[in-house]
Amino acid sequence: MKETILIVDDDKGFRVATLALLKDNGYATMAATNGNDAIKILAEARVDLVLSDLVMEGMNGIELLQWIKAHVPGTPVMMITGFGSINTAVEAMRLGAYDYITKPCDNDELLIKIGRVLQEQGKDRELRRLREEIGEKYSFGSIVSRNERMNRIFKLVNQVCETDVTVLVLGETGTGKELLAKAIHYNSARRNKPFVVITCSALSETLLESELFGHEKGAFTGAQKQRIGKFEDAQGGTVFLDEVGDVPLHLQTKLLRVLQEKEIERVGGNNPIPVDVRVIAATNRNLAEMMKTGTFREDLFYRLNVFPLQLPPLRERMDDMPILVEHFLQKHAALSNGSVRRFSPTAMAMMMSHDWRGNIRELENVIKRSVIQAEGESILTIDLPATAPGDVRPYIPRSAESGEIPFKEYIRKITYDAESKYLVDMLERHQGNIKVIAELMEVDRKTIYRKMEEFGIDISKYRNSPEPS
Ligand SMILES: Nc1ncnc2c1ncn2[C@@H]1O[C@H](COP(=O)(O)OP(=O)(O)OP(=O)(O)O)[C@@H](O)[C@H]1O
Ligand SMILES: [Mg+2]
Repeated sequence: MKETILIVDDDKGFRVATLALLKDNGYATMAATNGNDAIKILAEARVDLVLSDLVMEGMNGIELLQWIKAHVPGTPVMMITGFGSINTAVEAMRLGAYDYITKPCDNDELLIKIGRVLQEQGKDRELRRLREEIGEKYSFGSIVSRNERMNRIFKLVNQVCETDVTVLVLGETGTGKELLAKAIHYNSARRNKPFVVITCSALSETLLESELFGHEKGAFTGAQKQRIGKFEDAQGGTVFLDEVGDVPLHLQTKLLRVLQEKEIERVGGNNPIPVDVRVIAATNRNLAEMMKTGTFREDLFYRLNVFPLQLPPLRERMDDMPILVEHFLQKHAALSNGSVRRFSPTAMAMMMSHDWRGNIRELENVIKRSVIQAEGESILTIDLPATAPGDVRPYIPRSAESGEIPFKEYIRKITYDAESKYLVDMLERHQGNIKVIAELMEVDRKTIYRKMEEFGIDISKYRNSPEPS
């Protein structure tokens, strides 16, 4: 869709010439001769940019700007000013005008400035759109994602939230298994009852049993008081069996009995106690494999595996990166008192080429550290921790060839790799002489500079400059 620019100026010559120029360059245009007419248009039509004269009969440019800021604050305004009124133009910038241009204006300058505003504006719009999407369709609790596979998981989860079906969440470390389990609980009818986490890997065998089921006084040495176990704690709510693959075999039998009978027995006790809990289990282990080797009970596996959900690793949903980065930048903004806003393109390229074995948890940690480290508005490559790839060699996941990452993503990575190698090679062979390289590559110099920025290439490395003494 064409972007619409509204020109507000009482100078007919300027209006006509500018309208023609903008139309020739692919914009849709509208015009008003004064502020009041402009307001009528703005109240009704979608306008992407207002180009307004400062000095006009009736309502002047500053007043129009103030109206826009109050009523359609998302619409950027650029001021046109005669030579005498630079001070007013500066005042307009202070009041929120995006930019100004002096009359008579240079066509190229005008087009460049307009292009820049609209590009920035487009980014804002994209972000707003993403936020809206998170708010509606893609949101599941505080889980941030717009990835197709994740979205499918959310849909599945929606079907079982309200039921008591046992859910098994599978996925690598840091993929958000616990977050998903919580989201299920808080979207279920049990939301006002406890969500109790049992970390199955963290305890010795005896303690695990008493932790799960409680014990009676004197049940074993050191059991001086009666203890209520986690299953009982969770009455009416949800039990989250984290790292369920680490439950020792003899306890697996007991766990299975609880799931089947819906009652527990405290250690050293002899009365079964009914428990009403919903069970969600998670593991990063391969339970099917463990079953074959006899370290995980088959019957327990089938009991838990009623509704399995496999969370994809971050490297297989890199389309989530922008939205996750934005989310964590905002979440940890306070660490820099809000001064850090974004990653530089090169730093972002590095993030995109990292393999993220620690998944979302690793990403959040990297962002947290970088926000603390960064000094300006942008996080630069030097602010990234050394564990993120320090060089620009792109990372191609081993799973790429097996079709586990989307085709487009795969091609993007291969292209990135090929382009950066080609460019580095040219720079080395021609000592960083951009003019020569541009001719040989048959692209213009701007493209080369852009690519160098994209790949984080430092041209001074290739130029034969005298060594600093
Ligand atoms: N999609 C997401 N959006 C926002 N935050 C997320 C998302 N996924 C994970 N996180 C955050 O990442 C961190 C790790 O998530 P979580 O603890 O749920 O992972 P896990 O799969 O249980 O990992 P582990 O197997 O190591 O226990 C948490 O701080 C969580 O809030
Ligand atoms: Mg976990």
